[in-house]
Amino acid sequence: MDKDAQIEPADRGTVVFVCDPHWEGHGRAIAGKLGAPIHLLSELRLDDLTDAEQVVVDADLRDMDSVGRLKHALDRVPAIRARTFLIDEGSGERLLRVQANALGATRHMVRKFALAELRREYSVTGRARRTAAAETALRADAGGASIAEAEHSLETLFEGMLSDATVSLQAVSQAAAGVLASVRAVGADAWLASVRRHHEGTFQHCLLVTGVAAGFAKGAGLGGGQAAALMNAALLHDVGKAVIPRHILDKPGKLTAEEFEAVKLHPGAGFDYLSKQGNVSALVLDAVRHHHEALDGSGYPDRLRGAEIGPLTRILTVCDIFAALVETRPYKEARTPREAINVLVDMSIGSKVDYAAVRTLGGSFGVPLPERFGDVVRGFTVTRPHG
Ligand SMILES: [Fe+2]
Ligand SMILES: [Fe+2]
Repeated sequence: MDKDAQIEPADRGTVVFVCDPHWEGHGRAIAGKLGAPIHLLSELRLDDLTDAEQVVVDADLRDMDSVGRLKHALDRVPAIRARTFLIDEGSGERLLRVQANALGATRHMVRKFALAELRREYSVTGRARRTAAAETALRADAGGASIAEAEHSLETLFEGMLSDATVSLQAVSQAAAGVLASVRAVGADAWLASVRRHHEGTFQHCLLVTGVAAGFAKGAGLGGGQAAALMNAALLHDVGKAVIPRHILDKPGKLTAEEFEAVKLHPGAGFDYLSKQGNVSALVLDAVRHHHEALDGSGYPDRLRGAEIGPLTRILTVCDIFAALVETRPYKEARTPREAINVLVDMSIGSKVDYAAVRTLGGSFGVPLPERFGDVVRGFTVTRPHG
């Protein structure tokens, strides 16, 4: 990639891929991995580019017909502020770069490295790095050191998964144990508030799930191997999101059917990657694979039901949903713990999640629930959130 790239990866939005018809195979392979729509240059219409914030062009810039079509289209959509051109190395490369610049290229990318580069850039690992000042502020906050350590573990895990490298699970376990100790010391509420102040997107989510799991372990009085398994499962649970483009993960509002299919791959992808590491327990692997299953069989990826879903997975699932509800996003307000527990109670009434796990989680976050599920179903304490 050019060193003079003008736009930080974190600033890039919706990407549209434009390719020459005779390179369609290569184009589709990249666009598919990025979750980006692809348009053939021969059929390109202005409408295809109107919503794009970035366009990736894989076209034969020696072909004047292709250049003419591109110029016609790109000149009419000045709002596309990031224009990446894939360039073949070797003879004529300089001329191709000049041609790309004439078409408004904001950067060039060597064609054979483009898939790996773009995939990394559009994944959660491609976000903007924290500044030294922000790092100091994080470490000074409640639980900050353990949050920074867990964040580092996540970074290593996501990057390891993207490059299919081996990661040290010992470091992950240490970070997870550090979170548990920190939550025991400062309390889950303060720890989660620190995460919300310093993180966003998938990192915020994964850290919140880990903090919520620590709150659960603390409230339930879990110790030893049980607490360690839950903490490891929480920190590892969404590692499979490394292979999902960030603009899908962070998309405000409803996903398209195609995008949801891409998201649904993450538990299996994480399970496959962690299985290869050889030292993750079967219990933790099971929880990673099945944290999106539902008791009534409506979940994914294996549509397990009832007793097929183990106790650790049931706990991880309620921690995951609770964390998703209390996370802050630019476009939606975070729910309070009470509202989040009420949603989970409704979900347990709807046979999606385990009531005992919800009740323990509620107790851990100051929302006591009746012991008997029957009392809940009769509306004993449930106050629905507004809206
Ligand atoms: Fe997940
Ligand atoms: Fe999750």
